[in-house]
Amino acid sequence: MSRLLLITGCKQVLTLRGDVPRRGAALRDPGIIQDAALLARDGRIIAVGPKRRVARLSEARQARKLDLGGRVVLPGLVDSHTHLIFPASRAAEYEQRIEGATYQEIARKGGGILSTVRKLRAAKPAALKSRALAALRAFAAHGTTTLEAKSGYGLTLDAELATLRLLHELHQEQPLDIHATFLGAHVVPPEFRGRADAYVEFLVERLIPEAALAGLAEFCDVFCDRGAFTVRQARRILGAARACGLVPRIHAEQLARTGAARLAVEVEAASADHLEKVSRGDIRALAESSVVATLLPGCCFHLGLSHYAPARALIDAGVVVALATDYNPGTSPTVSLPMVMSLACAQMRMTPAEAIAASTINAAFSLRRHLYVGSIEVGKYADLAVFAVEDYREIPYYFGVNHCVMTLKRGEVIHSRPEA
Ligand code: NIG
Ligand code: FE
Repeated sequence: MSRLLLITGCKQVLTLRGDVPRRGAALRDPGIIQDAALLARDGRIIAVGPKRRVARLSEARQARKLDLGGRVVLPGLVDSHTHLIFPASRAAEYEQRIEGATYQEIARKGGGILSTVRKLRAAKPAALKSRALAALRAFAAHGTTTLEAKSGYGLTLDAELATLRLLHELHQEQPLDIHATFLGAHVVPPEFRGRADAYVEFLVERLIPEAALAGLAEFCDVFCDRGAFTVRQARRILGAARACGLVPRIHAEQLARTGAARLAVEVEAASADHLEKVSRGDIRALAESSVVATLLPGCCFHLGLSHYAPARALIDAGVVVALATDYNPGTSPTVSLPMVMSLACAQMRMTPAEAIAASTINAAFSLRRHLYVGSIEVGKYADLAVFAVEDYREIPYYFGVNHCVMTLKRGEVIHSRPEA
């Protein structure tokens, strides 16, 4: 017996239809259907359109009915950059930064990423897992149905593989889809202090082949920045990753302009992330490529920085722009893509429609999942985020308030709460 579901009471459905990444003016058209209905069979969308048309279909009569009572429906949000697995917050560093220390100063003194590495290595696997599960429930409660998650707080063969295995387990055991990225090149671990090139060799010879062979990662990321890995090292790491079947992603141009965005274009990375410090030439190079510029305004907000990535210049040049939370304990401890949209609108002058396209179809494209998720159209998963607002623009407008009242993954309700 097939499972049929008819969803009515959609004041607005933002379809984001088209299956393709959106650039330039196309980012502004969310493909709205007013007073819409949606029909799904076995978790896939089989019809979406005005209610009177969809409700007349023969399948609609036999379907289970879900009346949303006049809500705004978005494709399930796609968070294409998270560091899901970490052992504890770094709230003490947050306070130090407020009192004047910079992120880089804290890192140079052994805090920052390395302090999370020490704690993760000592953590109990069950504690890491329950922390991640709680975070995943919170992601779902904010409308996210698909996410990318990176390793990178283990930095030994065993600890990195354990993180990737945990991601695989979580993918199997709870409803959100998790796409794993190997980030062994996050920082140079203490065992290799002062021997960055030796660590790069270890990554290339051991860690990357093992992670790829185990089938535990789809992507390989490098933190290519001042104080992390150089462009030369990143090129070598991503070349090895590509040879093992892992698709490159790069943390690029966050702290300093290093040339990492150009490297992303050169190695045909799926995504270049951060980009606060990109140059005009970098923007032109990105615009001629299909590298997704993944902007992470939660970082600038949390670090108290006033300079955000130049979203307008990127969009106007025709770059494929996505938004993500960068959920991590150091620079962006948030699970909320709606909050990230608010920041994108207020601080980077993206319109609400652009911010939504960037958090759905374009993010899905950066994960190579755009034929399955990221828009509401026939054939795709019935992954939906339902908001208790009158108009989609109110989603970023009401910042810091979660108006997501229901989330569906492949046609199943995975989060539901009474209206705020
Ligand atoms: O995306 N830049 C590197 N990685 C993270 C920060 C991780 C941390 O501070 O723990 C980021 O900002
Ligand atoms: Fe990150």
